[in-house]
Amino acid sequence: MPFWDTAIHFFWREESLMVMVMALGLALFLLHFHKEERRGITNTLGFFLACLLGQFLSSLIHAMHFDMAANVLHEAFIIGGGIALIRLWGLLVFRIILPFAHLTPPRITEDIFVIIAYIAWGMVRLRYAGLDLGSIVATSAMITAVVAFAMQDTLGNILGGLALQLDNSIQIGDWIKVDDICGRVVDIRWRSTLVETRNWETVVFPNSQLMKNKFLVLGRRANQPVQLRRWVWFNVSLEVPPPRVIGLVEEAVQHTEIDNVAKSPLPNCVLMDMDEKGYGRYALRYWLTDLAPDDPTDAAMRWHIITALQREGIKLAIEERDIHLTKENEKHEEALHQREVLQRIKTLGKVELFSQLAEGELKTLAERLRYMQFARGTVIAKQGATGQHWLFIIINGEVEVFVGGTDNEKRRLNILSKGNFFGEMSLMTGSPRVASVVAKTDLACYRLDKEAFEEIMRARPAIAEEVSHVLVERRAQLDSALQNLDEETLHKEMNHRHSEVLATVKRFFGL
Ligand code: CMP
Repeated sequence: MPFWDTAIHFFWREESLMVMVMALGLALFLLHFHKEERRGITNTLGFFLACLLGQFLSSLIHAMHFDMAANVLHEAFIIGGGIALIRLWGLLVFRIILPFAHLTPPRITEDIFVIIAYIAWGMVRLRYAGLDLGSIVATSAMITAVVAFAMQDTLGNILGGLALQLDNSIQIGDWIKVDDICGRVVDIRWRSTLVETRNWETVVFPNSQLMKNKFLVLGRRANQPVQLRRWVWFNVSLEVPPPRVIGLVEEAVQHTEIDNVAKSPLPNCVLMDMDEKGYGRYALRYWLTDLAPDDPTDAAMRWHIITALQREGIKLAIEERDIHLTKENEKHEEALHQREVLQRIKTLGKVELFSQLAEGELKTLAERLRYMQFARGTVIAKQGATGQHWLFIIINGEVEVFVGGTDNEKRRLNILSKGNFFGEMSLMTGSPRVASVVAKTDLACYRLDKEAFEEIMRARPAIAEEVSHVLVERRAQLDSALQNLDEETLHKEMNHRHSEVLATVKRFFGL
């Protein structure tokens, strides 16, 4: 037989075409649908083609009548080509088909299956080449025993990794705590588990350590959402009745949208201890839904506590040495007060409602205001709330005005900012709050109560007129939002309402 005929005859087998089409088809399919692994796929395809070339070279050697060498080489390259095919099949099954069926087995499982397939394929080919499998198994068992003995630690880690994956005790994305290290699991490898801490470190835990020792999986409970209970501590003098403190703090946080704070269970406040110096030690406990921003969420909760207590004039208990440091003399306090009043007059001057008041009237008004701060998300006025006859003037920050009951029906009416006021409807007419007002940002404002406002109105009845204008305008906007009224009807409605509202206001204030 001529040289080339012999070579081609040796190289090209019945199944050759099918195998090549399969490898190319698989590689192209994977390159298209699994782009993240592009490099690995092209490398595998490259390896397959190299093995094919190797087979062709062995055919040339065969044609040169070096039969023994040609057979060994040929078999080796067939094993190589088969391994490349197994890898491509592995990628297809584990990265495309199983995820498509919503199954995501851990990477280790894929590795195990693929390695078993490699070994099986190698064994089959060696058997086919005439080697005695029994002796191979016996020899490999010996080698395995020796290797296992020499690599006890490594094997321990590998088995640890396998066990961790298979019993699902840790999953990628879990937050775990080992001793004083806390972080998120980012990868579980053969030998180790990688955990990223909040301090931007990556801790490598040998898997055997995780297997042998206890560790905490944070925020995880069977059939429950991932959330972790956090404790925020604060002290308040026992002169303030604890139920009042607890009520105020819970009121401030339970109906407020706070980022990463669970709605169920709701945050709760408890008196945890009583100090001999006369203060109560409280804890606000809440459930954190994203475990990464723990300190920032604690800080947000603290700000809610501070503002809620400050609004009611309750001070956080501080240690004695601090009291000495901040003790001020009366003169200084008076100066501070005057500065504050001047600041208030300036702010009030910018509020449209009070633009016609004279300096003296503004001063009287300024003396009667209460400074209040609200943390972002606090519900300052709740639609339907009764008996809240006061008005807020915004000094800094923004609020959103909503109407409607549940979250789905809720409609935003307006955003009010610095210089605007809200709450005039309850103040002026004595009605329940017609809308809900929520702090869109951290907010500083003045609260003006009915009695103080009444004084101003008696001195300047025109102000009632002015307020009722704003009030009617807002009321109409509110109704149109609720009933989708057209412009013309809205206008008519407003004119009709104005006199009605004014009458109500005068009646309410006995003017
Ligand atoms: P009051 O009813 O006391 O409490 C809710 C407040 O929302 C209300 O007073 C108004 O101050 C305010 N409000 C109602 N409707 C509007 C609106 N359309 N635009 C701005 N603020 C409004």
